[in-house]
Amino acid sequence: MSTEYVLIEQSSPLKGTVSLTGAKNAVSPIMASLLLTSGKNKLTNVPFSDDVRLMIKLLESLGAEVKADESLHTLEIDTSHIKSQSIGPDIMKKMRASILVMGPLLARFGFVEVALPGGCVLGARPIDYHLKAFAKMGVKIEAKGEYLTASAQKMHPTHCVLEYPSVGATENIMMAAVLTPGTTRITNAAFEPEVLDLIEVLKKMGAHIATFPPATIEIEGVTTLQPVEHHIMYDRLEAGSLLLAAAITGGEIHLPEAPAASMDVFLAKLEEMGHQLSYGDKGTGVALKATDSPKAVSFRTMPYPGFPTDLQAPMMAALCLASGKSFVDETVFENRLMHVRELQKMGAQIEMHGHTATIMGVDKLFGAAVIAPDIRASCALILAGLVAEGQTTMTGTHHLKRGYAGLLEKLQALGGKAQLLHE
Ligand code: UD1
Repeated sequence: MSTEYVLIEQSSPLKGTVSLTGAKNAVSPIMASLLLTSGKNKLTNVPFSDDVRLMIKLLESLGAEVKADESLHTLEIDTSHIKSQSIGPDIMKKMRASILVMGPLLARFGFVEVALPGGCVLGARPIDYHLKAFAKMGVKIEAKGEYLTASAQKMHPTHCVLEYPSVGATENIMMAAVLTPGTTRITNAAFEPEVLDLIEVLKKMGAHIATFPPATIEIEGVTTLQPVEHHIMYDRLEAGSLLLAAAITGGEIHLPEAPAASMDVFLAKLEEMGHQLSYGDKGTGVALKATDSPKAVSFRTMPYPGFPTDLQAPMMAALCLASGKSFVDETVFENRLMHVRELQKMGAQIEMHGHTATIMGVDKLFGAAVIAPDIRASCALILAGLVAEGQTTMTGTHHLKRGYAGLLEKLQALGGKAQLLHE
């Protein structure tokens, strides 16, 4: 069997203007939400990553008719003939986001059966908040073999207090509540921009949703929802990844569509490093001119609007070459520092203390054979490879392809030497 890898070579400063794709973290929940409707939906600005292709398969396996046009970035999804509410292990094990069909299927059919997501449900990255909230809404949840079945004669509204503002739990509960008569309230809800994009879609369907500071969402259930047409928001995390690619190589980049207004903390850290940033009108568009003497900065990942955990790994790659000592504290996920070991192979000076990494800036990184342990780490290693002396080969490419649609092509267009190869 041939091994796929990304070959990355030391590149000149990346320069140019790039357009963004639709947001990875918005498209999966929005695709799941279409199960709340019966009819023809249309999504535009769809990022065709492997996760989206898998989500298409999932929806088709339930009976949805899907027309995908990858070149136009559009998806037409007809949900008139949903005949199954069961998702098997082949799909569940590959993509955790498939758990997001639970809320919509429960709301529309009162039943859903999902294979347990990879690993132990109540272990690392559990779904206990989702299940507790469904149980409070009158859903009976049972584990049967490798399946979890959830059923309800009639769901009722409730007050869900999340102990942590989980993105997935907030989305799943909202989707269950929009067709549940009465008022459901979510306190300590997640307010990531992708959650707001989902709220916009649900409102277009006819859902009644109100938000209250500091973090409450109130949903007044309705009896039916209409099919929708929606343009997926631009990906702030792809924007951050590309800005860092320009920053690490000492280049210049313009992202006209970047949702700068929802990237404040991250952008402030780039400025603190010494990079020059300028912004477009009304919170959209960012341009970066890299400093040639980046300074160390420290940050802690937090729920929105804090520093996004999804940009922690790519930012760390840039900090490996910044002068001074940076502290990076990963507070959202307990196991999201696996790129440290790989960056160390490239000559990075990083010490780990629990969930905190201390990075001592070095003058140079060196090409190495590295393995991408997750989606965002794959981006971090590619960025490091663009400035490392010599060649870097990165395996574990399925992570890159799951989460990014066309990142390598965009880097190439900016002058980056990174290509997907087989041996
Ligand atoms: C989503 C994003 C992911 C991002 C994350 C945080 C998608 C497809 N993925 O993931 O890229 O990094 O938000 O912004 O949108 N938790 C529990 N019990 C639960 C649910 C979550 O303990 O039932 C914990 C998790 O283990 C984690 C934290 O809450 O420590 C945050 O997780 P959550 O916000 O739910 O992340 P996801 O929705 O899975």
